[in-house]
Amino acid sequence: MADGKRLARIAVMVSGGGTNLQALIDAQKNGIIKSGEIVLVISSNPDAYAIKRAEAAGIPAVSVVKKECGSQQAFEAGIRQKLTEYGADIIVLAGFMSILSENFTGSYPKRIINVHPSLIPSFCGKGFYGLRVHEAALAYGVKVTGATVHFVNEIPDGGEIIRQKAVYIEPGDTPETLQKRVMREAEWIILPEAVEQVSVQMMR
Ligand code: GAR
Repeated sequence: MADGKRLARIAVMVSGGGTNLQALIDAQKNGIIKSGEIVLVISSNPDAYAIKRAEAAGIPAVSVVKKECGSQQAFEAGIRQKLTEYGADIIVLAGFMSILSENFTGSYPKRIINVHPSLIPSFCGKGFYGLRVHEAALAYGVKVTGATVHFVNEIPDGGEIIRQKAVYIEPGDTPETLQKRVMREAEWIILPEAVEQVSVQMMR
């Protein structure tokens, strides 16, 4: 409880390594996130290392796999069912690599947030995810990149921006070195801050 109010119930959706999930777990432990609690992790990939991170933190983790569901509609119905079962107030996409339909995102206005590894509106939208974003930034030759946390709406990476942080590109950067620096200097900082901000707003 923060100030006698109940905590926002947070579901984190992942697909891979889960370093952003880890940043959220750590932020909850060290009090940066104090108005919400992570109650569920949903993975689109049953082999994601993120699941192990959730388990190590004692957070329930489930996989909802599109191929096994058979259709986008069934995939999203499976996710909805879990979100409802765990009473999620806020849905955090933390390296979640599946596209969600307008039907899905429209059901949770201002309740889904995403972390994207560039300064939106650069290097974002369809086809820009993971390492590809950093490859594109280096190919363009920008000198500054960063990360953005935003609300999710029907436009890919087009929802209202909550937080951004800039990161300088350094000589000799590869997509991999840049990805790591953007995570360390921006994503892992602004994602927990944004989750706390949205938790406070939601429980007001
Ligand atoms: C992160 O860099 C995240 O911003 C990016 O994928 C990586 C996931 O890493 N997300 C996107 O590109 C979404 N468009 P993680 O699994 O270690 O958190």
